[in-house]
Amino acid sequence: MEFYLNAIDRCGGSVLELGVGTGRIAIPAAAMGHDVMGVDVNRPMLDRARLKSTAAPLPGKLQLIEGDMSKIDLPHKDFDLVIIPAHTLALLTDEHDQAETLIRCAEHMALNAALIFNLFSPTDDLIRGDSDETFLLGVVEDDENGVRHVLTGTNEFDTTRQINRCTQVIETLNADGESIDREVLQVLFRYLHHHQVIEMLETAGLQVIDVFGDFDGSPLTDDSEEMIYICRLK
Ligand SMILES: C[S@@+](CC[C@H](N)C(=O)[O-])C[C@H]1O[C@@H](n2cnc3c(N)ncnc32)[C@H](O)[C@@H]1O
Repeated sequence: MEFYLNAIDRCGGSVLELGVGTGRIAIPAAAMGHDVMGVDVNRPMLDRARLKSTAAPLPGKLQLIEGDMSKIDLPHKDFDLVIIPAHTLALLTDEHDQAETLIRCAEHMALNAALIFNLFSPTDDLIRGDSDETFLLGVVEDDENGVRHVLTGTNEFDTTRQINRCTQVIETLNADGESIDREVLQVLFRYLHHHQVIEMLETAGLQVIDVFGDFDGSPLTDDSEEMIYICRLK
């Protein structure tokens, strides 16, 4: 999140976030004084973002729009920065929709604008690894209700279709550490290899300025868990 907020601060202008979710990045960006437009296909997510955005006055303008990022056609086509954080491009499980999204990004960028997005890197270890292995995705403390939510995941990779079926479990624990609720979600990702991302960007009329393998700015290697792209119009 800090990586994206720093990029927003550096760009100094208007921001378009695709897959804005509950406004984890968009709201602090508007709080920093930036005009932010956030697009999301999921109305409950946007409702939560709207509610969160009313907690404190925002010096920047925050506009939240319901829509599919692979089909956006917004009145403004001159954003200074377009971002797709949190592996969201991989949530489009169709190659055509992923490619279309990058084309839509290019269409909405001002001449000197940047596009920044990150995807998980399909390392050999990951996609050919043990599919039964459960890993920790995060822990959210809900102090108000005295509970904690523990999010774990299990991956199952289809290396032909480049699909990762991730089974995510949200376990809610009370103050004594006892489980009081358990929710299971299936999330599908279509992962991309680095060379495929480059080809898609090329087709969209975009060029890569920088690629990182981590948010600390380290280079992309075969072992990197992240693929972070900074692009401009060609
Ligand atoms: C992993 S969340 C990321 C939220 C936010 N960007 C963040 O970093 O906290 C992905 C978001 O993308 C949205 N999303 C998935 N497919 C989408 C699509 N085709 N068009 C727009 N939003 C989409 C989901 O509803 C979800 O809110």
